Amino acid sequence: MLEFDRHRRLRTSAAMRDLVRETHLNKDDLIMPVFVDATISGREEISSMPGIYRYSLGSILDEIKEIVSLGIKSIIIFGVPEKKDEVGTGAWEDNGIVQQAIRLIKKNYPELIVIADTCLCEYTSTGHCGILKDGVVLNDESLEYLTKTAVSQVAAGADIIAPSNAMDGYVAAIRQGLDKAGYENTPIMSYAVKFASSFYGPFRDAADGSPKEGPKDRKTYQMDPANRLEALREVASDEKEGADFVMVKPAMAFLDVMREVRNHTLLPLVAYNVSGEYAMVKAAAANGWINEEQIVYESLVGMKRAGADLIITYFAKDVAKKL
Ligand code: PBG
Repeated sequence: MLEFDRHRRLRTSAAMRDLVRETHLNKDDLIMPVFVDATISGREEISSMPGIYRYSLGSILDEIKEIVSLGIKSIIIFGVPEKKDEVGTGAWEDNGIVQQAIRLIKKNYPELIVIADTCLCEYTSTGHCGILKDGVVLNDESLEYLTKTAVSQVAAGADIIAPSNAMDGYVAAIRQGLDKAGYENTPIMSYAVKFASSFYGPFRDAADGSPKEGPKDRKTYQMDPANRLEALREVASDEKEGADFVMVKPAMAFLDVMREVRNHTLLPLVAYNVSGEYAMVKAAAANGWINEEQIVYESLVGMKRAGADLIITYFAKDVAKKL
């Protein structure tokens, strides 16, 4: 007599498989990225991200309406300013493009959670996420501008601040700045584990945020993709400084890190399914080489299985349509 386990018993029908499925995608988990652009009228498709657009202030509410009608409850907003300068004034001025967009969106959709990406790279003439001096991206000086940006975004109505500029101490600085301004109830979603990744390529086209002066990459402030323990140190620091959420970014090539972080933090964990991940799937699907819907499902459910609670994804609308 052969002795073995019959795992196939639990796979005999769709209903049986539904019964024993361990991980589920929910609309509540999805965060849709939105780009607002001060330099265009109407909307413009991002060439390396088919189906994703930059919107003018005049056209952005059409997109928000669609997002809300699909049952998605949160967005993360990125801006492209009219002008760039060395200190990224467009990121923190009261009438910056993101501040105007947040006011408009929250006025029309007060229930929608608006997360503000807090960084300088789309707004600095250097294309760096902080202040560049003598070829170095300065840490502590950059914190001042980042904090100003966060406070102005919350003043405009942002519900959550998501700092992504990868300076040390940014959570502490922003927490202190928000508290001083009376915003002690506004959570911080830290891009705690942000790798220096080529998977951000299409985003940098979309938001015109590539380094233009000084170092050609962000390797002195974003993490080395080869490192795992360093990710845990980043999370520990951000927790100590007061982060309310932590993020791992990119997602698909870093699911081991996602799981490790899940096992080390009690905070809600966010996966960022980034622009390059979207572009690869779209390109292969456009060629008829893969089944897009299935590949997207497997990718996102994999992020949740690895421990993510929430997923920022350019596929959010597509997925919400199927749920
Ligand atoms: C800003 C920022 C970036 C992304 C999110 N916030 C670009 C970068 O760090 O170069 C990338 C998002 C994506 O690729 O989808 N610092």
